[in-house]
Amino acid sequence: MRVIPIASGKGGVGKSLAAANLAVAFAQAGKRVVLADLDLGASNLHLIIGHRKPGASIGAFLNYPKIDFSTLVAETDIPNLRFIPGDAEIPGAANLKSSQRNMLIRRLLSVDADVLIMDLGAGTHQSILDFFLVSGQGIIVSSPAVTATLNAYVFLKNAVFRLMYNAFRHGSPAFEYLERLRKEGSGLKMLYLPKMLLDIETRDPASYQKFKASIDRFQPRLILNMLDSPADAEVAMKIRRSCEAYLGLRVEHLGVIYRDSIQDISLASRLPILLYKPNAVLSQAIYRIADKLLQTQEDAAPLAIGSVEESYQEAAMEAQIDFENKKEYVEELLHSGVLSQGDLIETVKTQQIEISKIKKENVFLKHKLSKAVSQGFKP
Ligand SMILES: Nc1ncnc2c1ncn2[C@@H]1O[C@H](COP(=O)(O)OP(=O)(O)O)[C@@H](O)[C@H]1O
Ligand SMILES: [Mg+2]
Repeated sequence: MRVIPIASGKGGVGKSLAAANLAVAFAQAGKRVVLADLDLGASNLHLIIGHRKPGASIGAFLNYPKIDFSTLVAETDIPNLRFIPGDAEIPGAANLKSSQRNMLIRRLLSVDADVLIMDLGAGTHQSILDFFLVSGQGIIVSSPAVTATLNAYVFLKNAVFRLMYNAFRHGSPAFEYLERLRKEGSGLKMLYLPKMLLDIETRDPASYQKFKASIDRFQPRLILNMLDSPADAEVAMKIRRSCEAYLGLRVEHLGVIYRDSIQDISLASRLPILLYKPNAVLSQAIYRIADKLLQTQEDAAPLAIGSVEESYQEAAMEAQIDFENKKEYVEELLHSGVLSQGDLIETVKTQQIEISKIKKENVFLKHKLSKAVSQGFKP
């Protein structure tokens, strides 16, 4: 079974949208898909896929582990797609004990399907990292906002640390080294993994080899969502460069998705966008990502540097093409009457509110920057 965990660090960037619609795309391509809502405490996948049947959820399972796990896996109206509901009632993943987490992972992995897609919660809690690390090729979603890209990076950094702690035996020289850095505090904030690894290799070659084996399998992939213009696509390069320079990670770019107000309508109608408007630019972008995933096997050999580079060039090109198509599409919607002048006014208003929010954020950041400069920081 292929496992695709979807995480982000920051909330509200489109994890659930990606998880739900990729699940639909895979199901339409003939795969037997199980979609699991692991955003415990803030579950909303059922709303996105329009799942109305009440039934056992992961929350209930955690409270009563005697429940037969297979009863959680519910049929949906979408052929080939089954769904495991989360639970908005139980406290978040932060409260999962490690034994609960491990049991849940075991049960999820024993589900009979071709593909398991896991929609994860925001944040970098251990449970979320462990769900993400079930596969070496999880997907990280970010929007172009600085806060989102920073969180995506921090999430991956924490994932790398989780891999280290998993690889280093308690009390080994490598473990002690890591603990010392952690206690010093600043060491981990200013993480520069390539240098750390050199230190670890000299101190504790056995631990180093163990970690090396797991980090070599770790090839997270990126989706950049909520673009407004092709220029936003450049943000992906920043994530790529930070991950490469500081974490030694090669992150493949799966593609960009533009922000599209049609998603709100699709959400209100309780239909995933792929079913609501398969021809929308938003849907086509998701199909394109699904195709890229379908073309590769899980645990394929690590991508060559050239292919990683290519994935960014391709995404930049797609950002340009989608932008043109989106303009045409809005015009078409206006002419066909699907999008009324009223909708357009509403969209413009919403965008103005967002612009004013961003302006405020900008003023705040400028203030921080000028303070840093006055304290000697050179930009
Ligand atoms: N590309 C997009 N265009 C328009 N709205 C979007 C897009 N991606 C996500 N959204 C909306 O943004 C909100 C947050 O998305 P969601 O998938 O729930 O994020 P997350 O799971 O990361 O918290 C939802 O209301 C969703 O419908
Ligand atoms: Mg979500």
